[in-house]
Amino acid sequence: MSKPIPIAVVGSGYVGLVAAVCFAEMGHQVICVDNDERKVAALQAGDTLIHEQYLPELLGRYRNDRVRFTTDLGEATRASDAIFIAVGTPQSEAGDADLSYVEAVACEIARSLTTYKVIVEKSTVPVYTNEWISRALERNGVDRTLFDVVSNPEFLREGTAVGDFLHPDRIVVGADSERAAKVLSDIYAPLTSGDYYEREGIIPGMCSTSEPPPLLLTSTKSAEIIKHASNAFLALKISFINAVSNLCEATNANVEQVARGMGLDSRIGPKFLRPGIGYGGSCFPKDVAAFRAVADQLGIDFSLLTEVEKINSLQKKRFVSKVRSALWNLRGKKLGVLGLAFKGDTDDIRESPAIDIVRLLLAEGCSIAAFDPAATERTQQVLPTDNKLRYATDAYDAAGDADALLILTDWQEFADLDLRRINQALRYPIIIDGRNLYDPSAMSDQGFTYLSVGRPVVHPVRDLASSAV
Ligand code: UDX
Repeated sequence: MSKPIPIAVVGSGYVGLVAAVCFAEMGHQVICVDNDERKVAALQAGDTLIHEQYLPELLGRYRNDRVRFTTDLGEATRASDAIFIAVGTPQSEAGDADLSYVEAVACEIARSLTTYKVIVEKSTVPVYTNEWISRALERNGVDRTLFDVVSNPEFLREGTAVGDFLHPDRIVVGADSERAAKVLSDIYAPLTSGDYYEREGIIPGMCSTSEPPPLLLTSTKSAEIIKHASNAFLALKISFINAVSNLCEATNANVEQVARGMGLDSRIGPKFLRPGIGYGGSCFPKDVAAFRAVADQLGIDFSLLTEVEKINSLQKKRFVSKVRSALWNLRGKKLGVLGLAFKGDTDDIRESPAIDIVRLLLAEGCSIAAFDPAATERTQQVLPTDNKLRYATDAYDAAGDADALLILTDWQEFADLDLRRINQALRYPIIIDGRNLYDPSAMSDQGFTYLSVGRPVVHPVRDLASSAV
């Protein structure tokens, strides 16, 4: 059994909160700090604040015991061997990451730092941030021998964040000192030794005692770049398959067959080759822009990333053109929209391509009835109900008397619709699917005109039969 280590996590957002409860699950003693008193009070009372599998369970298990919540960063600093900075790094107007929260935390840590600590960058930050953090601490009077700054990027996905943390593909530790590397290796030892996976009642996942996750030790700068490069590469993969899907549409080929054929090459792999309406969320758009900004600042031509962004943005406009191609004029058309979240299984609407498409369609003069299983409330805050937009109670209500039904988020319940009911509810049996949730030939059998991404358009079987007579 590994030794429990006292850890502070600064920031109780997505990454911070998940890291805090997962470190507790691994056996460590954690203090989670946030400067928002209301948030701290809510967490102390057991409210998870975000919609995430296993989070309520772990918070219930460790709250006010192995995980304490506080606003006092000084106390947390003094009590911990390692301080993980997991505060927001929002996109600035210029596209680069705004690191002012990270700087503020570093300056505050400096005030309470009297014995050796490892300061860990957990937020996604550009290369050289570790040096800025060191400089901020030194400028605030901390002796250089009293700390090391380490980069330990997080690769968690929304919806499966707890599982991703405890069953990672890899743990990346960027440390330029052996002493700091040892602290981080000890923190992750319950996972890397496989001990955690032997325990009863653990969070299930891919790792096991015989196949524990590897810990990759790198320089601090390499680790910072690994995070940005990984997200940018995944975004590139999505934009690539979206561009291929456009080619398939132009040639009447089927992108799913193409993606399968590509993905079977083990050098390419099958994941992140799902075409759609473009990537969104709190990470990919921000991280691609930040990585591009880093390259620009260093005088490196990485215009490939500009193309990735361009394809992503065009994909939404192409979807609107597809709606037009099915309905002729858009002005005055009534549309049912299924999905507002940036992907299924989350209530997050940050940079959601679904919402961008709703805005574009409203600007074209359509009226919309939208439904999302979890994201409606958040969407109402940015797109309030008006005479052109209403929020439906379910998918069938959204389809009611609509000229077409649009699928914009890959929720499982949208893949399991009662198609007979949908067909009866719609004014015309037209479905335009931005997530390829259905098999085109089955849709044609069910009496729909069905347009999807990168696959041939199909029409109702009986229409084809009658037109052939
Ligand atoms: C992502 C990364 O996966 C994660 O490693 C990082 O830490 C944070 O950013 P997340 O934003 O939760 O995680 O979502 P993800 O599941 O990766 O999807 C991102 C976007 O890409 C979504 O809009 C999704 O719909 C889209 N996507 C994903 C595709 O369009 N096609 C795909 O094949 C995969």
